[in-house]
Amino acid sequence: MMTCLLAETLGVHTHTHCDMQVINHGVPGQVMGEMTSSAEEFFGLPTEEKMVHYSTDSKKLPRFHTSIGNEQEKLLYWRDCLKLGCYPLEQFRQQWPQKPARLRAALEAYTTAVRAVALRLLRLTAAGLGLDEGHFDGELTAGPVIMNVNHYVPCPEPSLTMGLAPHCDPNVVTVLADNGVRGLQARRRGGGGGWVDVEPLPGALVVNFGHQMEVVSNGALRGGEHRVVTNARAARTSVATFVMPAMCCAVAAAPGMVPDGEAPKYRPFTYQEFVGAYAAAAGDRDAVLARFQNKE
Ligand code: OGA
Ligand code: NI
Repeated sequence: MMTCLLAETLGVHTHTHCDMQVINHGVPGQVMGEMTSSAEEFFGLPTEEKMVHYSTDSKKLPRFHTSIGNEQEKLLYWRDCLKLGCYPLEQFRQQWPQKPARLRAALEAYTTAVRAVALRLLRLTAAGLGLDEGHFDGELTAGPVIMNVNHYVPCPEPSLTMGLAPHCDPNVVTVLADNGVRGLQARRRGGGGGWVDVEPLPGALVVNFGHQMEVVSNGALRGGEHRVVTNARAARTSVATFVMPAMCCAVAAAPGMVPDGEAPKYRPFTYQEFVGAYAAAAGDRDAVLARFQNKE
């Protein structure tokens, strides 16, 4: 059985953590280990080998870049990232880096397994919200599965910079695995909105809802704001897998989530439109959502 720690996140309004972790998720430890260690191996390659994939074009896949990677970026963060298209496998696997040699096989096994976990979690979430179990099947999850393979080298002065600035992922749900080095933090709700260290149990996957979950659930579930702090001693490697709608998908609150006689919190939009607004808002969680809020 798949166990959700902080299971109250599924369907309750008053959770303090926006993230949760799952154990007994069915992704073999060996598949997760191959993924994170081949990712570490990629970042350990000589710079010229990684630079083959370097691009300043934020639309390019695969793409090796540093910091957040927006063209407008004025401040740089302590992150290197290999962004990959992952699913459908047939569409993307020919473009994956050829080095390290075991990366492609690791990506194939991990993508398949982790996507299945994400879809299962979405069925549980839909049921928890009182929706049809298949609410997220179809267009809402028909976009490509994209992966950020992140690497944060040790930072000599952690107080001076951040690995990744606060943000909420734009998609529906993100599933994250890491190499056991801490750094991810989630925004606490209530109590001043401080940050909580995310401390995954060995073998756990961290699950983070994105903006689209907040829209579809009409605010019953929040997109979790998160950030990554740097570490003076150890290098953190993480693999964030993004499940997202098709660009043409019309996203709207599920009818069952909107009380009778009330308007949904957000006006309908296409995911394409949302992604454009998200890029323009440069990580400001509330500013992005405000663009889509229905006026009272
Ligand atoms: C991301 C992200 C967190 C991490 O890639 O969107 O939030 O721990 N990553 O690297
Ligand atoms: Ni994120």
